[in-house]
Amino acid sequence: MADIEGLKVAKDYHVGENFANQGGFYVKGANNLDWGMKKHLSNIFDPKSGNTVMFAFDHGYFMGSTAGLERLDIVIPKLLPHVDCLMGTRGALRSCVAPENKKAIALRVSSGSSMLNDDLSHEIVAVDVEDAIRMNADCMAVQTFIGADGQLSSIDNISRVINAGMRYSIPTLGVVAVGKDMERTDRFFKLATRIVAEMGVQIVKTYYCDNFEEVVAACPVPIVVAGGKKLPEKDALELAYKSIQGGARGLDMGRNIFQSEHSVEMAQAIGKIVHEGFTDKEAYEFYLDAWH
Ligand code: 5RP
Repeated sequence: MADIEGLKVAKDYHVGENFANQGGFYVKGANNLDWGMKKHLSNIFDPKSGNTVMFAFDHGYFMGSTAGLERLDIVIPKLLPHVDCLMGTRGALRSCVAPENKKAIALRVSSGSSMLNDDLSHEIVAVDVEDAIRMNADCMAVQTFIGADGQLSSIDNISRVINAGMRYSIPTLGVVAVGKDMERTDRFFKLATRIVAEMGVQIVKTYYCDNFEEVVAACPVPIVVAGGKKLPEKDALELAYKSIQGGARGLDMGRNIFQSEHSVEMAQAIGKIVHEGFTDKEAYEFYLDAWH
């Protein structure tokens, strides 16, 4: 292990320079993977835009019934047609999503905390790879807590899921969580996303930050940006636009979709940015026109 004496500040990110090992497959870092992995990734990331709109409704795994998600059975079917990938727990998917739906599945497989805990960083792998196979999951989502008390166990969790995923050609989505006392800076996200990517995930989910394009450049697999707390629609669309402009290959939004007064139109507006090159202002105009 390299000693940390004399660490130099990394600075040469070659932002704007294309990923060198792209090869023949359009998903970053996946060129050397097998057919099955590539099939799952192509279910998630649109082959034309290279991007994805993930609809996240896995909040209940530690938040219980969340505002806007009180009725999974009503909310998910309403929004499903307007997104590319469903990010949910096996309980929500099996009980509320018709198996004949054709959307990609990002299956939440880690669990273990609740809103009753102060420290949310201690999780387990709750869903085994056999159940991910049964559900035809296109990726398995695992929370990591870099810098938190649960760092080591979260790295153990994600390693187990990556190992199982490699055995059965199912991608792993490494979620970079941000603890309440962690800094949402590029310094933290460069560290955390790179650790998770070097563990061997195929997709990283994290938050937008300043110098985001450097976070993207330093990460050898695609980054999808989590929406975070509910923002005014205009601001959420600006977040989506800045994320895509910064090199993210998609958005994984939950509260900014299901807590929006016009959630369908909001999902559609995000899709305009992610897949059709809309600016945030154009997407906001679309959003306003769509429900007026
Ligand atoms: C919750 C999650 C969510 O998938 C992620 O945070 C996206 O949801 P939101 O946009 O509401 O933050 O990991 O634990």
